[in-house]
Amino acid sequence: MSERTALIASSNANEHGSSGPPPNAPYNTTVRSVVWGLLTALTIAFAVVMLFFNDNLPDNIKLIPWIGGDLHDPTVAALDILSKAPVIDGHIDLPILVRHLYANNVSAVDLSDNMPSHVDIPRLKAGKVGGFFWSVYVSCADPEAEGPEFLTSTWRVRDTLEQIDVAKSLIEKYPDTFQLALGTEDIKSSITNGKIASLLGVEGAHQLGNSIAVLRQYYALGVRYVTLTHACHNAFADSCGIAPGIEPLHGGLSTIGRSLIDEMNRLGVLVDLSHTSDATAIQALKHSKAPVIWSHSSARNVHDVPRNVPDKVLKLIGTGDGQTDAVVMVNFAPMFVAPEGLANIVTVANHIEHIAKIAGKRHVGLGSDFDGIQDTPTGLEDVSKYPALIAELYDRGWTKYELAGLTGGNLLRVFEGAEKVSRNLKAAGVQPVYDLYDKRTDIPRI
Ligand SMILES: *[C@@H]1O[C@H](CO)[C@@H](O)[C@H](O)[C@H]1NC(C)=O
Ligand SMILES: [Zn+2]
Repeated sequence: MSERTALIASSNANEHGSSGPPPNAPYNTTVRSVVWGLLTALTIAFAVVMLFFNDNLPDNIKLIPWIGGDLHDPTVAALDILSKAPVIDGHIDLPILVRHLYANNVSAVDLSDNMPSHVDIPRLKAGKVGGFFWSVYVSCADPEAEGPEFLTSTWRVRDTLEQIDVAKSLIEKYPDTFQLALGTEDIKSSITNGKIASLLGVEGAHQLGNSIAVLRQYYALGVRYVTLTHACHNAFADSCGIAPGIEPLHGGLSTIGRSLIDEMNRLGVLVDLSHTSDATAIQALKHSKAPVIWSHSSARNVHDVPRNVPDKVLKLIGTGDGQTDAVVMVNFAPMFVAPEGLANIVTVANHIEHIAKIAGKRHVGLGSDFDGIQDTPTGLEDVSKYPALIAELYDRGWTKYELAGLTGGNLLRVFEGAEKVSRNLKAAGVQPVYDLYDKRTDIPRI
């Protein structure tokens, strides 16, 4: 805006500078004063109309968009902001949809056309998406089959590898659209190249088969976050369940859970606290040397369900004393947003503003859960709709800088922080963690 104002000011100066007659040209002073009088009157009338009635003019003829309360139409502003700071979504469930609907046959999946659920390439482009975490989720095992010590379901490692294969195969199938991203530099270069940065996230440490060695190999395959739990407890940490919630098992993190976080910090795998119990989240925030994320969680104060983050945890987020940098990426799942039938753009924006109020605007992001949820909020039906949410917040007074943080900047800062911690730990010679889960008997102890 200021550039444009300056531009117009300087072009006016040029006009005035060149509009006077040459000093010795013959001219009629009466005609001159009448013309100048008329021009002056017209200019004043124009300025009055623009200054006092600008807000009431239809958007398409607002000639001075930066004057008055609205900088522009919120929709136009949202698209403008997103063109420079596209969405980096913390959690999209396309791979599990491909498992359920296409038996993981990537050849049968046509992302260039209208997909059955919330995500495809045309809608990603319409929604100004610059990157997202592809969740390589597989569900918790049946608790009966799993047993109380989580020792049986190591086939979940196979299934996770299959979902990594699906995600990477789809990314490779559309090289003009997607680019695998292994860190923040990759995210930025993908966006600069007009590609959608594609990151991998594992949604629950139940997918590790109780093994920190598996974490290292997931990292080698490109995984950059692990959610400490899904809806079940696991060997590493307690979950919050879904609704009404579940009884704690470890009381937060287990001993091997703390070791898992140490190895995640060393590798540069983001600790994701969505789905965890409050005790797990609080302990992990204190234990982790690196900033953490909630890849897809909303605010419990706005809608009281266990999956949402309570204020007592939001208060621990920040960069002050005893606080950890973090980003809470708001989940759009209607059951976590509002009472039945009431989830819409306004109620999702209320979650964003509440997290911003308690933790700060630098600590909130977007983690839609698209393709992983059955229904969607009104107005946020799929990945093409992020601009409407950004427009809502723009209308509520968020600046373009604050919105650029929300859409992706905050996640990038947190991720950069985790990368830095990883570099420092490696430089300090911190060794890989070789701790074994104490309930395992299949490996003889030395
Ligand atoms: C996978 O999908 C392709 C394209 O629809 C089809 O030709 C192929 O037979 C499928 N493969 C299997 C194993 O179903
Ligand atoms: Zn989830």
